[in-house]
Amino acid sequence: MKKNAQTALIHAPRRAPQYIQTVQPPLFRASTIIFENTDALFNRHWTDAYDYSYGTHGTPTTFTLGDHIAQIEGGLYHLLAPSGLSAINLVNSCLLSQGDEVWVPDNIYGPNMEHLRNLQQRYGIAVKVYNPLEVESFSPSDKAKLLWLEAAGSVTLEFPDLIGLVKKAQAHNILTALDNTWGAGLAFNAFDFGNEHLSVDMTVHALTKYPSGGGDILMGSVVTRDQHLHHQLFRMHAIQGICVSGDDVAQVQRSLASMQLRYEHQAKSTIELLNWLKLQPQFAQVLHPADATSAGHAYWKEICRDGHSAGLVSVIFKPEYDLAAVRQFCDALSLFKLGFSWGGPVSLVMLYDLKSMRTLEHSHLAEGLLVRFCIGLEHPADLIHDIQNALQRFSD
Ligand SMILES: Cc1ncc(COP(=O)(O)O)c(C=O)c1O
Repeated sequence: MKKNAQTALIHAPRRAPQYIQTVQPPLFRASTIIFENTDALFNRHWTDAYDYSYGTHGTPTTFTLGDHIAQIEGGLYHLLAPSGLSAINLVNSCLLSQGDEVWVPDNIYGPNMEHLRNLQQRYGIAVKVYNPLEVESFSPSDKAKLLWLEAAGSVTLEFPDLIGLVKKAQAHNILTALDNTWGAGLAFNAFDFGNEHLSVDMTVHALTKYPSGGGDILMGSVVTRDQHLHHQLFRMHAIQGICVSGDDVAQVQRSLASMQLRYEHQAKSTIELLNWLKLQPQFAQVLHPADATSAGHAYWKEICRDGHSAGLVSVIFKPEYDLAAVRQFCDALSLFKLGFSWGGPVSLVMLYDLKSMRTLEHSHLAEGLLVRFCIGLEHPADLIHDIQNALQRFSD
């Protein structure tokens, strides 16, 4: 029987042929996934492997991106989340229970600390802060469940003693979670580093930064090599309804092809800026892990063997430059835009007052206001010229 027009519009006769190949994988958008028959419905295994049963549990589009991210980072299993912060929160809410202890570096990504403080207030989870450059400052009790790591810290860029910290955590049976956004899976392999082939238990990656590369998409991932741990995270991911849009995933997937080229280009430009910034008299300190004077430089050298160092560099203004002066500097920049985040095409600047951001004493950092530059894809000579112009304001 001929279908009514309304029905025919919904049940279109054309299906994409199986043999067609495109450069980018086809995009699946789904809340509902249609089962072939009731056998397929009752035999679905959404809690095992990567099965298709409902949009929140994934589609070929999300699994393709997840596979790529896991592969780049050296992991096996993956989960995607709608932002880097949501991936962080997934780890915290899955692995921490009432009375547990969690350890975080003093230079932790601020919103992670906010989330942990919230868990502390509501569930009595003890949040302990350690100095990422001194393993001895990490002194877990038998209640410790999780150690957070960042390599490098995203504002002050200290590279931690990753080897020492992971070894100590392993000796105490404490799970390790590395925020791998800076390294992006390119600077070092978080699942196989150092001469002893150490591995963290899981990585969290703000795909918002280098994988997206556009400054226009938010996304995060959690990658592991441990099937049991992955299952724990997977169940929490499912019951919390954490999922991502197929359209956003397709955009990140498209950007992955150029990620390494962008990362290396931005890292190279950043070194050029670093060398110039170091010569400017207005700065008390320039922070970048590849610089021999930066805290944790030796650890960086040991782990990031090919000299990888991402696109972030920070400066600390001499104390005579007060907040008004540093604000004037930031406002005078033209190519550097004032905004949070990094890894996109446009260079960004952000100012920070470290006094409000650190729990421990930080004698390795000079007194003064900190400005972080995120280097985009512009020509480094133009970026230097932009900073030079803004610095000129101080001598006018
Ligand atoms: C080190 C680090 N981790 C995680 C995040 C969170 O990522 P998102 O912005 O996608 O929530 C950020 C964001 O700036 C970050 O800098």
